[in-house]
Amino acid sequence: MVEDRAPETPEGDEPIKRRKNGLYPAVSDELTEVMKSGWADTELRDLQPIEQAPYAAKRRAALSARFPGERLVVPAGNLRTRANDTEYPFRAASEYVHLTGDQTQDAVLVLEPNGDGSHDATAYLLPRSSRENGEFWLDGQGELWTGRRHSLTEGEVLLGLPCADVRKVADVLREATGPVRVVRGYDAGIEAALTDKVTAERDAELKEFLSELRLVKDEWEIGELQKACDSTARGFEDVVRVLDKAEATSERYIEGTFFLRARVEGNDVGYGSICAAGPHACTLHWVRNDGPVRPGDLLLLDAGVETHTLYTADVTRTLPVNGTYTDIQRKIYDAVYDAQEAGIAAVRPGAAYRDFHDAAQRVLTERLVEWGLLEGPVERVLELGLQRRWTLHGTGHMLGLDVHDCAAARTETYVNGTLEPGVVLTVEPGLYFQADDLTVPEEYRGIGVRIEDDILVTEDGNRNLSDGLPRRSDEVERWMAALKG
Ligand code: GLY
Ligand code: MN
Ligand code: MN
Repeated sequence: MVEDRAPETPEGDEPIKRRKNGLYPAVSDELTEVMKSGWADTELRDLQPIEQAPYAAKRRAALSARFPGERLVVPAGNLRTRANDTEYPFRAASEYVHLTGDQTQDAVLVLEPNGDGSHDATAYLLPRSSRENGEFWLDGQGELWTGRRHSLTEGEVLLGLPCADVRKVADVLREATGPVRVVRGYDAGIEAALTDKVTAERDAELKEFLSELRLVKDEWEIGELQKACDSTARGFEDVVRVLDKAEATSERYIEGTFFLRARVEGNDVGYGSICAAGPHACTLHWVRNDGPVRPGDLLLLDAGVETHTLYTADVTRTLPVNGTYTDIQRKIYDAVYDAQEAGIAAVRPGAAYRDFHDAAQRVLTERLVEWGLLEGPVERVLELGLQRRWTLHGTGHMLGLDVHDCAAARTETYVNGTLEPGVVLTVEPGLYFQADDLTVPEEYRGIGVRIEDDILVTEDGNRNLSDGLPRRSDEVERWMAALKG
């Protein structure tokens, strides 16, 4: 902890950026004086560290051990302008969140190397707005406009690591000597300050390490992912209850209904919700969500709540809009269900990561051959990958802070790796028969089915974190009937 901190309020002669479109551009000296004083001391003195602080400290220790003697820079990222002085919602970079538990915009974590191979970590944050120089009300990012921030002293208690003023970090980095690495892609200003000192290859190694550090989740992260799945299950229930309203409007009603649950119980949705009714289910990333919802059609809903701590679920259910699958819908649905069962059964410690994909693809291929859509033998079809015309995508991916988590991990640790306890992945086989696919009988056309669950690898097998939602076709129908009342 930093003791004897200098006052956060700078002296009153610093220039203030004025908001560009204010109605009151001129500020009289008298008003300036009036605005400076008469404010209570609101420093929070009874804060406790955030729950994840000790876990983040362990992650920083692992990072330190991997890069002794090097300065490591991990930005949270900046606001992105939508137009003029409006911005897109901010969501901090996952690397920064994983290493600090913090979500502050513009923040930067710096690990300063010590001679003995260890590091000192500092979180550079924007402090409270100065009242003395007027920034709290005259600057667009002043607290009067955007809300109270934590003081640096409060930040130190919450995060359990020293905090400093982020407005100084670019100078600190520019003046620093010795090897440096930065996580790229989040903060152009920080990258510019380091431009002469870093290389793309070395920075990619840092990103890769941080991605691999997230492959195995700790107990706290598993708890957060469970919360994300539980909220997501409630969001799916919300959707079933309003399907009649969606029929009267569009897929947007479903998107909005799920979003309400995500915003009330969590931070946001973890990715754009796919609310795909009828043939839209065959468009893998259907996020326009502007189509009709018709009784007799299927609704493929792929959506996940992101918790307040930024862990997301990623769940898909394919539901009959009117509550009952038709024969052909049920035939396709049950094949996907069987494939998912085979995939989930292949998730266990020591298994190859690829096993669950191979297991699910085999079941789907067997059905496609059985239905006469592909000519056997199954082995030959699998070897040539011919089933992929209708299975389209991989059967899953890592899940965590990002929906497609650990994306910068090396092939040997991820796709060619081995599962171990603490890994969380999705198992999400699907079959998609495009509306204009002339190679299948007409009754198949326009039907898309995916079932997706979030599976934790345990010591002796796996646990389905999203089992709050039914998967079997008859159970889905009973669950829908109960919710529709
Ligand atoms: N929601 C994207 C995916 O399932 O991977
Ligand atoms: Mn999904
Ligand atoms: Mn997924």
